Formats: sequence, structure tokens, C-alpha cells
Amino acid sequence: MKTIIEPFRIKAVEPIQLTTQAERRGYLTEARHNLFLLPSSRVLIDLLTDSGTGAMSAAQWAAVMTGDESYAGAPSFFRFEQAVKNLMPFKHVLPTHQGRAAEAMLMSLFGGLDKIVPNNTHFDTTRANVEASGARGVDFVIAEGLDANSLHPFKGNMDLERLEAFMAEHHAHVPLIMLTITNNAGGGQPVSLANIQAVSEIAHRYKKPFFIDGCRFAENAHFIKMREHGQGRRSIEDIVRDCFSCADGMTMSAKKDGLGNIGGWLALNDDELAEDARALLIRTEGFPTYGGLAGRDLDALAVGLKEVVDENYLAYRARTNAYIVERLDAMGVPVVKPAGGHAVFVDARAWLSHIDPLAYPGQALATTLYELGGIRSCEIGTVMFGRQSDGTEQAAPMDLVRLAMPRRTYTQSHADYVIEVFEEVAKRLLDLKGLRIVKEPRMLRHFTCAFEVLTD
Ligand SMILES: Cc1ncc(COP(=O)(O)O)c(C=O)c1O
Repeated sequence: MKTIIEPFRIKAVEPIQLTTQAERRGYLTEARHNLFLLPSSRVLIDLLTDSGTGAMSAAQWAAVMTGDESYAGAPSFFRFEQAVKNLMPFKHVLPTHQGRAAEAMLMSLFGGLDKIVPNNTHFDTTRANVEASGARGVDFVIAEGLDANSLHPFKGNMDLERLEAFMAEHHAHVPLIMLTITNNAGGGQPVSLANIQAVSEIAHRYKKPFFIDGCRFAENAHFIKMREHGQGRRSIEDIVRDCFSCADGMTMSAKKDGLGNIGGWLALNDDELAEDARALLIRTEGFPTYGGLAGRDLDALAVGLKEVVDENYLAYRARTNAYIVERLDAMGVPVVKPAGGHAVFVDARAWLSHIDPLAYPGQALATTLYELGGIRSCEIGTVMFGRQSDGTEQAAPMDLVRLAMPRRTYTQSHADYVIEVFEEVAKRLLDLKGLRIVKEPRMLRHFTCAFEVLTD
């Protein structure tokens, strides 16, 4: 059959709120045109993030009931640890409440003044943790990764030449090399196995540890299987094992490819570092056999890690994004291609070219998607990155709108509905107006700032 269907049926349903356009216009005014300030009960299709928003399976909910809440040595931990080690053969696995806690620990171990951490692209919490330690993060994603129209199959790859040149000059300041799979900040684009292995080789040649930010490891492995020469007949598990067996450790947000609503971990091989990390874990998260999670969360993750490597699930997941990207592309909506693993990215600056970047075309599109169709998306552009440390404002390199797909949550008809809402936007594109910010906090303004719609 040519239709790739949702490889599950629905056992429990969660009603979503149907509202009218007039009601949504009122809700937008109340939220000062900031979608983060909308109560989720007023959102019809919530594509704000794929993090922790997925649906757990019947088997995961059953595992929740087997959770053992003992402070130390709970069997839930050992089931979780075994599930992680089955895919990522690291010696030590330290559970954390989510990914950023693992990043904070990693940077306590490796960060510090005068240090520089290379990555393909640091995710924002990774960068924040690098910088909080006094270090600096540098990004070496390949040039195609910054070109919305490039059809390179692995747009998340590290630029090996630039990394090599950087290491030759600055290796004394580099405590470790990181690689993010898939590259979230670059549109959920994958990294090839060959590239992962080549980055590992460079790191080890300079005697530096190599750590993977593995949040979307299964989606990445799916793209390796589909697109990389010689990988097509291998199992997802084997590809995942190969990705991680050339690394010295990893950070993980299990809210993505752990198929959990909460959770994460730091894993590593070095015994001494692991001892230091455990001391940190006890101080900040909890005892090493629960580390910030309940036993029931650990059990849900142990099952989620088995389900996420299912090829039918991964094919359906990738197809949902590709389907929306193909349809939007055919309508003439500028989208980042090829579709990424967890989200669809729309180039709002190109589509709403009548709106100046400093009048936030991404926000104009995101609020219109909400007003017309109740869809919540996320501006990734000048609202998020425009304010400079000297107080001035500059257009961000791109004004994108991200539609992130929660896992196993929405169906094909939800995807069709999203496409229809874009058709409605297209009809009134030139009527869309820019916005201005009337109130903003000193940092991370996109979460709480208030907007006003420009009238002329
Ligand atoms: C690539 C990447 N790294 C790290 C994180 C941080 O994980 P968490 O939100 O669980 O703290 C995220 C979350 O979106 C991510 O996408």
C-alpha cells in the first residue's frame, strides 16, 4: 500500500477545544498576541513543541503501574538503565529530570572560562549551559544546513574541514566536542553515520572526549537508514548502537525520543568523571537510581525506548512532516526542505515579504495561524533572537515559524486541517500586518513579551 498510516489505534482520547475565529481573536488580544501566554485549553492543534507532548502507549501506561518508588536501588532504575544500554553502550547512565539538567552537569564537568565547545549547532539550553560555565559555544554545521532550499540529505552534518581547522588552532581550549542529532536548531535535520564517526575521529585524534546530544537519536537513525549508502538493510537498533559506540558519552532529553513526558540522562564511559557526575547528581537532582524522576517515569521510558526504534513508527513520523512540507511547497509556501524529523519550518520572511523583519513576519504568521485555525506554532526569528546584548535590535538571520509535531498525538486529518489553514492564510496574505513589542523582559523576551498589531 502506498499510504503510510498511523501504526496504532486509539484507546484513550483527549478532547480538544473547538473555538470560533471571533473567540480566538479575543483570546489573542488577552494574550497580547504572544502564543506562549495562551492557555492550552484555547488551542485546537498545539504544535508549539514536540518535547514531552507525545502520547504514551498502553504498554507505557501499564509500566507506570509497575514503577517502584524506592529511594535507592529500585528495579525501575535497572529496567531503565538496561533499555538505555541496549541502544547506547555507555558504562554509566545517570537519570535526570530532563535534558538541560544533564547538560548542566556536563558543563560543570567540562566547562569553564576560556573554554570553547564546538557543536554542529548548539540547542539553546545547551548553549546557555555552556555559557553559564564561562565557556563559549561555536557552531560548525555545513553550509547546506543554513540554506532552506538545499536538498542535501544530511543538513545537520558537522563541517569537518572547519572543525579540523578550528581544532588545529584552538585545541588547547576545547574540553570536548559535541554533536546534536538531529540538529534541532537547524530544522531537525539529520547527521550521517559517516559524519558522526568522522567527528569522533577528529575528537579522539586531539585526545578530546566526544559527546552526542542524542534527543532525537531514533529519528536520526531512520534518516541514516533511508538515505545513507550501505545502511538501508540494517536495523534501527544497530544503526543507533553504531552512532553511540564511537562516542564517550551523551546527553539526552527523554521527552523526545524517549517517548516520555519527562526525563533525561547523562551517560558516559569514564569512571572518574562518572563519580564526579554522581556527586553532582546527588546535589542537584537526586540519588543516582532515580535522579530527578519517579520510578514510574523510569519504567515508562524503559518501554518508550523499545517502541521508538520501531521502523513503522519512524516511517509514519517522518511521513507526517514530509506530507505537510510537500503540500505546502506545492501551494507555494516557502518551507525548509527536505522535511526535518520533528517539525515543519516555514520561511515567514520569504512568504510575508511585505512585512519588515523588524515588524516580525514570523509572529504575524504564527498569530494568524492561531486566529484562523486555532493552531499554535512557534516563531523562531527576530522576536526570539533580535534583541542584542547592547540593547539594540537587529533582524535575525531568518524569520521562521516552526510547527513541531508531538509524537503519536495527531492524525492525518489534523495534518490536512493544518494544510487547509495555510490555504486560508494564503488567500489573505497581503492583509497580514506586522507587530511591535510594547513590553519585554530583559532576557528571553519571546516567552513573555507583549505585542501590538501595527495598523498601517
Ligand atoms: C537538541 C536538544 N537538546 C537539548 C534539549 C533540552 O532538553 P529538555 O527540554 O528536556 O531540557 C532540547 C529540547 O528541546 C533539544 O531539542
